[in-house]
Amino acid sequence: MTKTHNIHPFPRPLARNTQPPGGLRRLAVLSRKGGAGKTTLAVNLAVAAQARGLPSAVLDVDPQASASAWAEVRGATSPVVRHCPARHVERVLGEAAEDGIALALIDTAPHAEGAALTAARAADLVVIPCRPALFDLCAVTDSLDMARLANVPAVAVVNAAPARGRLAAETAAALANLGLDAVAPPLGQRAAFVHALTAGQGVVEYAPRGKAAGEVLALLDRLLAHPAVRATAKNNEGRLA
Ligand SMILES: Nc1ncnc2c1ncn2[C@@H]1O[C@H](COP(=O)(O)OP(=O)(O)O)[C@@H](O)[C@H]1O
Ligand SMILES: [Mg+2]
Repeated sequence: MTKTHNIHPFPRPLARNTQPPGGLRRLAVLSRKGGAGKTTLAVNLAVAAQARGLPSAVLDVDPQASASAWAEVRGATSPVVRHCPARHVERVLGEAAEDGIALALIDTAPHAEGAALTAARAADLVVIPCRPALFDLCAVTDSLDMARLANVPAVAVVNAAPARGRLAAETAAALANLGLDAVAPPLGQRAAFVHALTAGQGVVEYAPRGKAAGEVLALLDRLLAHPAVRATAKNNEGRLA
């Protein structure tokens, strides 16, 4: 059984019931393929959101606890990283909303269908990282099925695309054939992603002016602008008004 422990309890950056505009938005990062870039995406989007002034949290549902290991190296209280089994996700998201978290990233394990489905059901949008490789494209179908089963919209992010050539565009086209839109921009294959993760940072901290940071910030903006995520923000504001 998964051990539950909190790497960081939610700090109280904002008074209880003080909600950021738009309230809590929830992204589940899913892929049946290990190494696709789920944890990389989750922690980098969380750090980028913080940099944009949005308090963020990572819910680490993966028993391997990579995001939690990153948080331990980081040794900071933001973004908040909570390791929790999938069955606690709804409760932890409720706490995050009360504590003024604006963006939650649910980082999942590759080989845990039940947990991935629970994560997808708890989210406004499922984000599926996909490397430009055949096996990754094959694995996307499973993740897409999961999102459909959960009745939650899904998008892909092409990850670790070579800087040159047409591979990123070809991968996006292949994803479109599978019924999945790839959100621009793709994340390049960049050493900054590896170095930042190892240092307990996001790329926007590790190399703020670097290409990787630009990609992650642009991706964050596109994900926050997705209709499903905007609809949640609008509903939250309606409820809080
Ligand atoms: N865009 C990228 N460029 C370079 N290395 C990457 C990129 N995305 C992920 N990686 C590296 O690939 C490895 C696996 O990524 P990870 O996010 O742990 O995948 P997952 O969580 O899906 O198993 C890590 O060592 C990570 O640093
Ligand atoms: Mg991972």
